This record gives sequence, C-alpha cells and structure tokens, in this order.
Amino acid sequence: MADRPACVAIAVLLLQLTAFAKAIDPHLEILPSGDTQTKPIGSSIILTCKPKVDNPELVQDMQWLDPQNRVIESLKFVVLPIESTHTGHSKPAMYTELHQDHSLSLFFNSLQEEQAGKYTCKGTYAQNQMLNKSVTIDTIIAITWDDAPVNQYPILGEDFSIMCRVRARPSPSVDWLYNGELIKTNDRYVINAYSLKIKNVQESDDGIYTCRASVQTTGELQERLIRVEVHTRPSIEEISSPIDITEGENANIECKATGKPPPTFTWIKSLTQQNLSITDRFGVDPVTGVLTITNVNREDAGEYQCTATNLAGTVTTNIQVNVIVKPKIMEFLNKTVVEGKNKDIMCKAFGRPPPEVIFRKLTADKQYLMGAQPQDDRIIMTNSADDVSGETVGVLAIHSALTNDDGLYECVAKNAGGVAYKNGHLTVEFPPSFRNMPNITIYSWEQRPVNLTCIAESIPNATIRWTMFGDRRVEDDVTIQVIDDGPISTLQIRPTDRRYYTNYKCIAANIHGTREHIIELKEATKPTELLSVKTVELTATSIRFDLIPPTHPDLPVKTISVQYKDNNQIWQNAKNRTWSVGSVYVVENLKPQTPYNFRFAAMNDVGLGNWGGEQHETTPGRTVPNQPKILTTPGSEYEQSAFNNQYELSWLAPPDNGEPIDMYLIKYCQIRRVSGEWEVLDDTCQEVKIQGRTRQYLKGLSSDTFYRVELQAHNIMGYSKPGSAKFRTTRESAGNTVDYILVSAAGDTCKIAVATITAAVMLLSLAI
Ligand SMILES: *[C@@H]1O[C@H](CO)[C@@H](O)[C@H](O)[C@H]1NC(C)=O
Ligand SMILES: *[C@@H]1O[C@H](CO)[C@@H](O)[C@H](O)[C@H]1NC(C)=O
Ligand SMILES: *[C@@H]1O[C@H](CO)[C@@H](O)[C@H](O)[C@H]1NC(C)=O
Ligand SMILES: *[C@@H]1O[C@H](CO)[C@@H](O)[C@H](O)[C@H]1NC(C)=O
Repeated sequence: MADRPACVAIAVLLLQLTAFAKAIDPHLEILPSGDTQTKPIGSSIILTCKPKVDNPELVQDMQWLDPQNRVIESLKFVVLPIESTHTGHSKPAMYTELHQDHSLSLFFNSLQEEQAGKYTCKGTYAQNQMLNKSVTIDTIIAITWDDAPVNQYPILGEDFSIMCRVRARPSPSVDWLYNGELIKTNDRYVINAYSLKIKNVQESDDGIYTCRASVQTTGELQERLIRVEVHTRPSIEEISSPIDITEGENANIECKATGKPPPTFTWIKSLTQQNLSITDRFGVDPVTGVLTITNVNREDAGEYQCTATNLAGTVTTNIQVNVIVKPKIMEFLNKTVVEGKNKDIMCKAFGRPPPEVIFRKLTADKQYLMGAQPQDDRIIMTNSADDVSGETVGVLAIHSALTNDDGLYECVAKNAGGVAYKNGHLTVEFPPSFRNMPNITIYSWEQRPVNLTCIAESIPNATIRWTMFGDRRVEDDVTIQVIDDGPISTLQIRPTDRRYYTNYKCIAANIHGTREHIIELKEATKPTELLSVKTVELTATSIRFDLIPPTHPDLPVKTISVQYKDNNQIWQNAKNRTWSVGSVYVVENLKPQTPYNFRFAAMNDVGLGNWGGEQHETTPGRTVPNQPKILTTPGSEYEQSAFNNQYELSWLAPPDNGEPIDMYLIKYCQIRRVSGEWEVLDDTCQEVKIQGRTRQYLKGLSSDTFYRVELQAHNIMGYSKPGSAKFRTTRESAGNTVDYILVSAAGDTCKIAVATITAAVMLLSLAI
C-alpha cells in the first residue's frame, strides 16, 4: 500500500489542470491546424472551426467568410438546381455545416484553383466578444496529363515530337525513358518542355516510351507509358500508263501502294471528279486498290486518279486509260468491173485505235501485202486511218482487171481489241469468149441428126444466135431446131440434103461485146481401101500381114477386117476376121499346102469400106516348127540372172508348121570369152526336155559364170532350128540363193547344238 499517496497526487494535478483550462481566453481553433493549408485541386476538404470557450452555449453567429469576405452559406440555405437535388449528386462547391458543439465546418466539394485564398471563421461569444480565426488555402495541382496520348505515330524519315504535356503546381519536371533507359538529349533526341523530339524517325524508334513527371516539393511522381509506332506515308507503285481496256469487256485496273499502316484506296475520274466507289458500273476495292469496270464503254477513256491514304498521309497518282474498241466493218460492198478496167475495192472499218484493214481472196491462202503485190503489181493494197474518227479505209486497187480477179474477197479489220471479217464479191465482167470450145468439125451421114452446141463464156451471160448459108438465119429453116439462146445454145440438125453440110456461125453477145464461133458440119463417108497390104510371115497354118489403113480426114478408121477363102470357094462362103487398128494382124488355123485368097476392108463410124488389097498365098507343107524365140533384153549381149545358181528361161511358142509342138529341148553350156570369141567349156553342157510350157528354171549353175543356152521346138516332123541366148549368173556373196541359205543355216544350227552339248558335258565332268 506504499503507492497510494502518489495516486492521490496525480488526481489532484488533473483537477488543477482542468481548472486552469476553464480559465483560458475564448478563441477559435481551425482544424486541421496550420495557418496555410496546401491542398491539391479537385480534392475534397473540410475545415472545422471550433470555438474554444468555457461555455460553448454562449457562442453565437458562427460564420465562414470567403476571401472576398462573403459569408459562405450553410448547406441548408443553399438553393440547388432541381435536377441536382433530384440526383443527389451535386453539391455546391463550398458550404458550411454547424455542429451541436457549435463548431462550424467548411466543406470544399472539389477544390478549385480559384477557391484559393484566405478564409476566415467568425463568431461572437457571450454577446460581446468577437472571435476570429483565418486560414489560407493554397491550391496545388497534382500531376495531370494534359496532352500525352498513349499511342503516338511518327512518320518514317520525318522529325516527330512525342507529346507529353504535363500540368502540376508547383511545376513538374519531366524526363523520358525508352525501354527503361533514361534518354539524354543528343543529335537524335531533343527533350523539350512538353515533348521528346526525335529527328529523322526510323523504324527502330518503335517501342514504349515513358514520360516521367515529378514535383520535387510534393514528392509526387507519375509515369505515362506511350506506345510509339512508326508509320510510313503511302507510296504508289509506278503504273505504266496508259492502260488499255477493251470496250464491252470487264476491266480491272490496279493501283498498288505501300505504307504503314496499309493504305486504303479511292478512285476518282478526273474529268467528272466522280468518286467511283459509289457508281454502278465501277467498283473499288479499298483494300487492294483494284478498280473494276464492268462492260467498259467508250466514255470510260480518260484520266483517273488513284488515291492511297493511311494515317501517315495521302498520295494520288493519275492514270491514263484508253478504251480499245474492237474493229467493226462498216462497209464492204460488192463491186463489178469490166475486164481490163481498173477498180478499187473499198472496205471501211471502225475501231479504237483505228484498225488495220487487209484483204484476202477467199480462194487464196495468203492475204495481200501492203503496197503493190510482189507477184502481181496490178494489185495495190493501201490503208488510210483517221485517229480522231477511228475510221480506216482499206483499198484494194486492181488495175486492168483479169477474169480470174472475179470472186469472193474477205476484208479483215484488226486492232488490239480483236478482228472483224466481212466478205464481198468482185464481179469481173467480160465479153463473150469461146476459150473452152474445141475447134471441132461435126460429122453426119445418111441424114443422121446432129447437135451443134455453142458455149459462150461471159459475164453477164451472153445471148446466142446462129446463122448459116451465108448469114441465113437458122430460125427460118424448119428442119433446124434451136435449143436455148445462151449462154449455151444447141442446134438440132437433120441434114436432109447436102446444103446442110456447111458452116454454122454462133454469134454470142453481151453488153461488153460480140464474138463469133464457127462450127462446121461435114458429111462423113466410109473409109477407102487400105493403103498397103504385105505378107510378112507365112507358115503351114498361119499368115501375118503388115497393113496400113487409109488415113481418113474425117472419121478415124476403127477396125480392119479380112476375108479369106481357099481358091475353090466363092467370097460368099469366105471366113473373116476383124482386128482393131494397130494390133498384130495374124490369121491362124489355116490348112497346110493350101492356096488362099485374102481381101481387106477398113471400118469407121459410117461403116465398112470397100474390100480390096487382095492377096494370094499358098501355105507350105507341114514341117518342123519355126525357130523358137527366147525372150531377152533387147540390145544387151547377155542376160543377167537374178541368181547365182539358176536362171529363168522363157520363150515364145513358134508357129508349129502344121503339126503340134510336143516338146522343147533346152541345151546349156558354160562359155568363156577367149580373145574376143566365145568358147564352150568341155564337159559342162546339160540338156533338159520339157512339155507344155514356155518357161523353165535352169538349176545347179555355177556362180559368176557365163552360159549359152539353145532351145529347139519339136513336132512329129522333127526339131526346129535352135533359138539361142547367153546369160550370166551372179556372184555367190550376194546370198540370194534360197537353197544355199537353207543349207548354210542348217549347218550353223548343228554347230550350235554340238557346241551346247560339249559345254554341258564339260560342266558335268567338272561337277563330278
Ligand atoms: C454480194 O455478193 C455475194 C456473193 O455473190 C452475195 O451473196 C451477197 O448477197 C451480195 N451482197 C450484196 C449486198 O449485194
Ligand atoms: C441432141 O440434143 C438433144 C437434147 O439435148 C438430145 O435429146 C439428143 O439425143 C441429141 N442428139 C444427138 C445426136 O446427140
Ligand atoms: C448464166 O448462165 C448460167 C448457165 O446457164 C446460169 O446457171 C446462170 O443462172 C445465168 N446467170 C444469169 C444471171 O442469168
Ligand atoms: C464374118 O463372118 C460372119 C459369119 O462367119 C458373118 O456373120 C459376118 O457378117 C462376117 N463379117 C464380115 C465383115 O464379113
């Protein structure tokens, strides 16, 4: 209990202190304390003015005065705009509020710079004592980013200031960081009050920049991150102007541009200043820059402007557009020219650019060349083009026209847009011509009716009339009929008397002239007697003649007939034979040892002529056959066999002289030439007898060897004289003997077989 006196002492002190307080002078106290309050703009503050008196009940008329000494209203007296009370959000910029302990608070809702100043709190104590206390409100401005966009876009190659306008009071200081590093002013960076200037911006300047603001007196520090993306101004790629587009087709015109960010495009037609993205036939792709024109028409030609735009800028280029109009042939008329005269074939065509006009004859595969034709300088092709009207006149000038210039011509008009074709006909008129009429004579006899036909070629068609008997008109003769009057006309005449055998004149006429053609009608007669008759060969059973028929000027001799009989017969019982002219005139199957009479006559279309040229011949008695004739190549000394070991002999059967040939004897021997003479080699001769044939293979001959062959025909009367020939076999190496090849091939096969077996045996023995 030793502490007790100390406790009592503290309690007494407290009482004394209280008593002292009650004794202080009345005054006002402003909380927070301090003569100057420094507050940031926009902050809400409360200043409380508290009376410090013994008896607060005696405090009256508490007031706050603003720097202009105007009383600041209490909240309840402030008349608020209706909508403000309604929303309850707005409060007056400043107001007061009285508390139960008689302290008066001054509220600043959001402190404004103009509210800075000296504020005074006033009150009355115990009716007479004026209380008064002032406080000065000093505003400061917190760091505020007035103009410091978080995304900024400098342009490549230009100077750029990254903006960072900061406000604060006291005034702030600003520095810059790039990728965390502090930026210092140097030859690329200039730090200005409100910006960082970068000279000649490069793509590498992309990145995050930090604008850092600080106020030393308040210690406030704020950072602003600014993303910098370097942009590039658009640049339009060179366009090879002018651009050709074709009428009636769809066209795409490209405008390409680079830039960052990628530019977008617009197109304008210069003449009308029309924006083409909103026109029906035009379409613009703003991303690719392609201008699409559907169904191009001529008015689309002209200048266009392509504009490429991005955030960094705008660039425009002018593009010249030509509209190509496909060629069209406006006029290509059929023409007519008279042979020998000049004519221009004209073809008018239109197009843009004006087309080239050329000509081609449809029957020719090549077109004409400009200027005179190298093969035919009568024909000259020219063009005259008019760039303004787009018209080309092509001319094919033909000088002194020929009939074969007649025909279909094609006009071809061509330009970059296409080709057009049109056909036109050139008619070359000419007077009648009988150029394809043969100069023939017409024959009649015994009143046979004939037709005389006249064909006149001409353009236009000719009309034909006929005259006869010295310009007598054929129409006057009832026995003559005229069929057609041109360009083909035929006279049907039945020559009932000799007066009709005369010249008939065909007269053809058209507008360009008259021509005449004469057709002769002649009376034809039977052939006369033969000019010559000779016996060339007489055998026991046959006779051969050499005959020369009469050379008739009118109708040719077609056949020759012979009549023959033996002496005892009369001509009525004679046999006959008819040959065509030029054949071998042989009569066979005669009887041996018989006298014969022969007579001859020639025949033409009119009939058989008179018999004449009588011959008397007596056939010899039966005897051996005539000498057979071996068939050889005329003019060569010997025959060349096609083989090296055989020879094909063939011959003509000779006349048998009354008895049939029953056999041929062939004898052949090797021969050689000794000092210019042929000599038979001993013991080389062989004989073959054959029947019923006139050819024989002589086999088993030596190669490259001369042979002499003799051939005799045999009948019951004996052997004929021999016919003979020489021949030669080929060299062996030629390998052209069928037999030899077969033998040789068989030999080789055997050798191969033997070799195979030998090899097999050797292998077997090795294995064992
Ligand atoms: C031109 O001639 C051709 C052929 O002869 C013919 O088919 C065509 O109808 C003619 N044209 C005119 C316009 O006469
Ligand atoms: C003559 O012409 C007519 C009509 O074409 C024909 O009937 C007749 O057979 C011809 N006469 C002769 C002999 O060719
Ligand atoms: C001309 O003659 C020919 C042959 O007779 C005929 O085919 C053609 O129609 C004729 N032409 C005229 C224009 O009469
Ligand atoms: C040829 O003889 C035959 C009968 O054998 C006879 O019919 C014919 O008229 C004769 N021809 C000539 C041209 O004598």
